[in-house]
Amino acid sequence: MSSTPIVLISGAARGLGLASAERLAALGWCVHGVHRDAAGRQGLVDRLGEDQVHQADLSETGAAEQVVNRVLARAGRLDGVVHAMGEFASAVPSETSRELVQDLWRSNMLSAVDFLDASRGALRASKGAAVFFGSAGLAGVRARQTTAAYIAAKTALLVWMKSAALEEAPHGVRVNMVSPGVIPHRDAASETSDPERLARIPSGRGGKPEEVAAAVSWLLSSDASHVIGQDLEVAGGWLL
Ligand SMILES: NC(=O)c1ccc[n+]([C@@H]2O[C@H](COP(=O)([O-])OP(=O)(O)OC[C@H]3O[C@@H](n4cnc5c(N)ncnc54)[C@H](OP(=O)(O)O)[C@@H]3O)[C@@H](O)[C@H]2O)c1
Repeated sequence: MSSTPIVLISGAARGLGLASAERLAALGWCVHGVHRDAAGRQGLVDRLGEDQVHQADLSETGAAEQVVNRVLARAGRLDGVVHAMGEFASAVPSETSRELVQDLWRSNMLSAVDFLDASRGALRASKGAAVFFGSAGLAGVRARQTTAAYIAAKTALLVWMKSAALEEAPHGVRVNMVSPGVIPHRDAASETSDPERLARIPSGRGGKPEEVAAAVSWLLSSDASHVIGQDLEVAGGWLL
């Protein structure tokens, strides 16, 4: 890439999206970030600059396209997208409402489809890369006590990500996924700080957002130029 590479990150105001934004900015990427709530805006503006911060509810139809068009109008190109948003909720199947299944599907699966659809043309033009967020342990389909609806959506995303990777490879676009294990941070679900859960992680600790961000930046980099359709777990051995 001759000019400064441009990346668009969803879920950039906090957690793993924010860590990815900070790492990529430190590596010299021009980072555009999407936030949903007003509360996250100022912190993101302070880090990225007003012109590179975009407010959107990406579960709404057409929202991703609007954001990508704004980025293209300002930056003229797009070399990478990182779709870090994805709501989490916990309930046993018998207490999981149809509405919750729909919400998790929209947040984790449909928004990812929209995000790539909106950026596909620009990524093909730049021969760029996309990174989606799964969750550790998707490969071996297994029952979940309290996360069936969330994991069902993430599993669908894994199949879709691989399929999109297959379609995009001949166009020079690499599509991959990062799947965190248990990564506590200030805004993370309370389950990520549960001492019993943390004690069951083979590495003996929860992951750090920076460790997830390192995987994201590697997948976007030319060091991963022959890595396509992979689900890279950053999980300390959780759910192996
Ligand atoms: N942390 C973990 O242990 C863990 C484990 C496995 C998988 N993951 C996955 O990793 C990704 C990042 O996790 P995280 O812990 O950083 O999540 P998080 O703290 O819940 O942050 C999610 C971000 O997504 C944004 N977002 C949510 N819905 C949105 C919408 N409709 N439109 C636009 N933005 C929206 C939120 O924006 P606002 O702040 O503006 O609301 C927030 O910044 C997610 O896909 C999650 O499923 C995380």
